Amino acid sequence: MDAHPDAGLGWAPKFVTRWAIGCMAAIAVAGSALAQTPIERGSYLVNGVLTCGNCHTPRSPSGAWDMSKQLSGRPRTWDEVTFKVNAANITPDFETGIGKWGDADIKRSLLSGVRPNGAQIAPITPYGFYKVFTPADIGAVVAYLKSVPAVSNAVEPPVYKAAMHVDIPPGADKAMSEADMTDPAKRGFYLVTIGHCMECHTPLVNDVHDYAQLGKGGQPFPGPWGVAVSRNITSHPTAGLGAWSDAEIKSAITQGVRKDGTKLNPPMAFSRYATMTDQDLSAIVAYLRTVPPKE
Ligand code: HEC
Ligand code: HEC
Repeated sequence: MDAHPDAGLGWAPKFVTRWAIGCMAAIAVAGSALAQTPIERGSYLVNGVLTCGNCHTPRSPSGAWDMSKQLSGRPRTWDEVTFKVNAANITPDFETGIGKWGDADIKRSLLSGVRPNGAQIAPITPYGFYKVFTPADIGAVVAYLKSVPAVSNAVEPPVYKAAMHVDIPPGADKAMSEADMTDPAKRGFYLVTIGHCMECHTPLVNDVHDYAQLGKGGQPFPGPWGVAVSRNITSHPTAGLGAWSDAEIKSAITQGVRKDGTKLNPPMAFSRYATMTDQDLSAIVAYLRTVPPKE
């Protein structure tokens, strides 16, 4: 029971340390985190709140993410009513990745879910949640994706069976601005949206998110751990997080430990979220406290 694929996060402490040292060095040199380069900002986002690697990075036999092949596609298949797809190779490899795509192509794929040839991408990449990206952040994500090592890994091509439905959460239909980021609850809404938290934490009715029940949970996630069911993360005092302290909510997000001390199961990528700054985590908490209570 100790080694299911999503539990082997052995790389995380090393990775976090390296990230933290890199970050401290950047701050020491520049005196401010604002001096992050676009690639550093992109790395912070992609490897943290965006959890792109949770789907796109293959795993070693131990179950840990194989960071030497990061973002080169995972041999996991999503076989659903309208499509059967595998997570694509999104490294800059020319033959098997997205090396031939220009910056504008990558941006369009994330903002509109369309490939350079015009074909729609299956909404497993949660692009319905990405329209809020600030122009600087989407640029940073693209800069980082172009900077990762190209890895040759041919992923089985997608099969599309019928028209694919994409839903956009309320208030998330257009780009947010740097000015929005100075308000903690707005910044939190931004992070929760690009982190597609509500993709998992909102119930589905006939494969469509029921946003009237935003944050109510209830979606099942089967895996080697059994079936994890997403929880109620609204501000409801008993059914949701209303009675949890800020620190308790942060430990659930970054450590996978609940208020009552029990451990949460994947697929929520706790070790990725643990790389977020405390300012960003506090903003997420500030926003979650504004999510209308649901029983
Ligand atoms: C929940 C899992 C999941 C997450 C999270 C995810 N993706 Fe994906 N992504 C997929 C799958 C599955 C496909 C293949 C879809 C298809 O073939 O239609 C895909 C396809 C893509 C493509 C199209 C590649 C191609 O060759 O057509 C790009 C680009 C992409 N993802 C980028 C990203 C980025 C960047 C992130 C993070 C911001 C991300 N994805 C997050 C699962 C995910
Ligand atoms: C891939 C799906 C997925 C994503 C993305 C996701 N979660 Fe979760 N989350 C879950 C599941 C499933 C559980 C319950 C796991 C269990 O019970 O073992 C959970 C549990 C939680 C809990 C614990 C609540 C409780 O009552 O125990 C909190 C808090 C939480 N998530 C917040 C977030 C936030 C904030 C984000 C975005 C930064 C997020 N989640 C992203 C699937 C997800």
